[in-house]
Amino acid sequence: MTSPAARTVAEWEDDLLVARKEAVAAGVVALHLVSPSGADLPAWRPGAHIDLLLPSGLVRQYSLCGRPGDLSTWRVAVLREPDGAGGSAYVHDRLAAGQRLRVRGPRNHFELEPADRYLFIAGGIGITPLLPMVESVQRSGAPWRLVYGGRSRASMAFTDELARYGTKVELRPQDETGLLDLDTLLGEPRPGTKVYCCGPEALLTAVEERCSRWPGDALRVERFRPRRPGPSAAEDSAFLVELASSGRVIEVPPHVSILAALEEAGVPVLNSCREGTCGTCETTVLDGEPDHRDSVLTPEERASGEFMMICVSRARGDRLVLDL
Ligand code: FES
Repeated sequence: MTSPAARTVAEWEDDLLVARKEAVAAGVVALHLVSPSGADLPAWRPGAHIDLLLPSGLVRQYSLCGRPGDLSTWRVAVLREPDGAGGSAYVHDRLAAGQRLRVRGPRNHFELEPADRYLFIAGGIGITPLLPMVESVQRSGAPWRLVYGGRSRASMAFTDELARYGTKVELRPQDETGLLDLDTLLGEPRPGTKVYCCGPEALLTAVEERCSRWPGDALRVERFRPRRPGPSAAEDSAFLVELASSGRVIEVPPHVSILAALEEAGVPVLNSCREGTCGTCETTVLDGEPDHRDSVLTPEERASGEFMMICVSRARGDRLVLDL
């Protein structure tokens, strides 16, 4: 979990050089980013992601998928999304090696936690955060298995790098072997096993359903899109937010997020995606009950009511006291 202090101070942000750009699968390019001065980049742990701040103003999050111990280079992989807003199209069609790119982060809401053994489930580009995880777990000696599905073998990135793990990695191209057999994989809860999953929403939802009978902390998923459409604004009501540091009270109207209301009141809070997926705006709740609408917190974290993502989440009552 991000330190509460992390949200009020500026994150690391700099222009990095695209040292290399390469196709790693059909519709997927990898970017190798370095400091133009050759300086070390901030350290990161498996599961971390960074923001790419694109010239159009779009901000996109991508998992770091290189080697966590390598401070000289960050690697991300970008899937072309034909129906997207243009972020991936820019990276694919216009960004070239030798150009600079504004980058922010890294941050991590998909931490690799200790476990007796691990089951990794990847769907398509969801392999990216899992790559450094399997490398780390392999080094630790803990038993693990990766089941990696994709539309076709050609669309599945980094299969060459995964080949060194032998039978611990099972490739499941859909056009050869069909959909992942989640009932067999997850049908029986296995205490001591942590399940890490990243991929398209349909896969994440299906894995969440299958894991509902597993221990509550067994499953960790990473989303880069909101979990589901939020409740209609018509259902929202106004509430008050008290800032603990100053005692100032700010009204949050029904159709406005806490984040926007704070900004309107001249209280900037670090943020990025503004849709509840990146974790940047995580804020400590000192009093009141949050109405969680993010796609970051685990069920346990939600139940604790300790933190909330103020870009999308609201209040169940008429007042929240936030550690701001
Ligand atoms: S800004 Fe990304 S979760 Fe709030």
